[in-house]
Amino acid sequence: DSTEITNSGGADFIVVANRLPVDLERLPDGTERWKHSPGGLVSALAPFLQRNSGAWVGWPGVPDVEVDKFSDDGIWLHPVTLTAQEVRDYYEGFSNATLWPLYHDVVATPVFDRGWWDSYVKVNRRFADECAKIAADGAIVWVQDYQLQLVPAMLREQRPDLRIGFFLHIPFPPTELFMQLPWRAEIIRGLLGADLVGFHRPGGAQNYLWLARRLIGLEPSRGAVGVRTRPGVVQVGDRSVRVGAFPISIDASGLDATARSRDVIQRARQLRADLGNPRKIILGVDRLDYTKGIDVRLYALQELLSEGRIDPSEVVMVQLATPSRERVEHYQRMRGEIEQVVSRINGEFARVGHPVVHYLHQSIDRKELAAFFSAADVMLVTPVRDGMNLVCKEYVACRHDLGGALVLSEFAGAASELTSAFLVNPHDLDGVKNAMVSALELDPAEGRRRMRALRRQVLTHDVDRWARSFLDALQPRQEQTL
Ligand code: ADP
Ligand code: F6P
Repeated sequence: DSTEITNSGGADFIVVANRLPVDLERLPDGTERWKHSPGGLVSALAPFLQRNSGAWVGWPGVPDVEVDKFSDDGIWLHPVTLTAQEVRDYYEGFSNATLWPLYHDVVATPVFDRGWWDSYVKVNRRFADECAKIAADGAIVWVQDYQLQLVPAMLREQRPDLRIGFFLHIPFPPTELFMQLPWRAEIIRGLLGADLVGFHRPGGAQNYLWLARRLIGLEPSRGAVGVRTRPGVVQVGDRSVRVGAFPISIDASGLDATARSRDVIQRARQLRADLGNPRKIILGVDRLDYTKGIDVRLYALQELLSEGRIDPSEVVMVQLATPSRERVEHYQRMRGEIEQVVSRINGEFARVGHPVVHYLHQSIDRKELAAFFSAADVMLVTPVRDGMNLVCKEYVACRHDLGGALVLSEFAGAASELTSAFLVNPHDLDGVKNAMVSALELDPAEGRRRMRALRRQVLTHDVDRWARSFLDALQPRQEQTL
């Protein structure tokens, strides 16, 4: 296997991401433990790396910790230290209060701060230095996501022998919005250090190619970019940089097997009973992020209850929300708003011992999550913008019984694959309400037909296929098998 760490200490295959797949947690009693990191990137890549041993360079999730490299679940983890100031400026600031809102259609206003940018440059350099240090001759380095867009060029400068890929896990914005960024040319140049730049959707790839022409004056190919096939190409000196679309996915068969296990089936039954055996259970599962449209579904539910179209004695909603980026102001404001709507709905429609909305601001373990997916009659995934959204694919992977119904936003990347879902425009509240009612009243035979089609897509397009197609396209042209 070419991905093993060699005796010389050099790694042949390296994933570099802002976060390690595990976060260091400091407990109130002063002890520390490692826990699974939040978010789709880790859910997708960790199972792939466990099966294909490699190294992972990333931040351990808390400031000012120095940890030596260690091995976990078959992956060599190389922690990169961030100071408390860098967590504020590079991570909470530039990554999550500038790039995150800018790349998600400015649904919140991005903040442009020169000090944050300086920190972004400095931290990107540290990640690049760590990769340069541990990579074997000619190794493959796969750089992940918006926090590290300068790493490809910084790494190439030091190590031209490496094969460098970059994948963006969030949407790449329309060019008009990207042009707002004061450091727009630097970001485009940073990505051009890669041999292959990947996006979820062809639109992101096209936007990037347009910007390479407009901002750097290069001559990219003009043909349309396709999914997994037909990448665009930009010539940068004597190097060809390919630019393609690779929709990410999940460990579908692993989750399917988990959902079929006896304890998950029993736990799903228990959850239904704990919720009072309602006629229908509606579920939302998200990082607590303002892009996820958690408010949209709560407002829709509130109106449906007020109009008597949903009976609170028959329907229960569960919203699981992983705490996320809690010190960023946009997130604090949105959390306040969501918690207010939840309590308003319960204040008005609950009975003693029977809340209408069960809201858990907690991270749930994988098996428990599979049980929630299995128990839910209607899954609501209503982001106002989402690069892909893995939750909807996880729900489908868990429904081996062909039960359940998926309501999915058109603005999630997954919508172009999961066309048998109830697709909604999250800005159209009446449309969301009607889709919720249709999903709640779905004829079982029609539900099975839809779920069968959804499962065909998800089970045949899993994360291994995604990773292999990306890594295959990253090979020098003559070695590609696709
Ligand atoms: P993002 O990457 O923006 O967080 P995705 O939908 O792509 O969004 O991925 C979210 C991942 O986090 C999924 O694997 C999902 O199962 C997991 N997740 C979301 N909410 C929770 C929760 N409350 N507890 C545990 N895992 C969660
Ligand atoms: O894909 C979106 C993403 O931002 C990942 O890069 C990240 O790992 C995940 O969501 C969770 O966010 P954070 O690392 O900021 O908690």
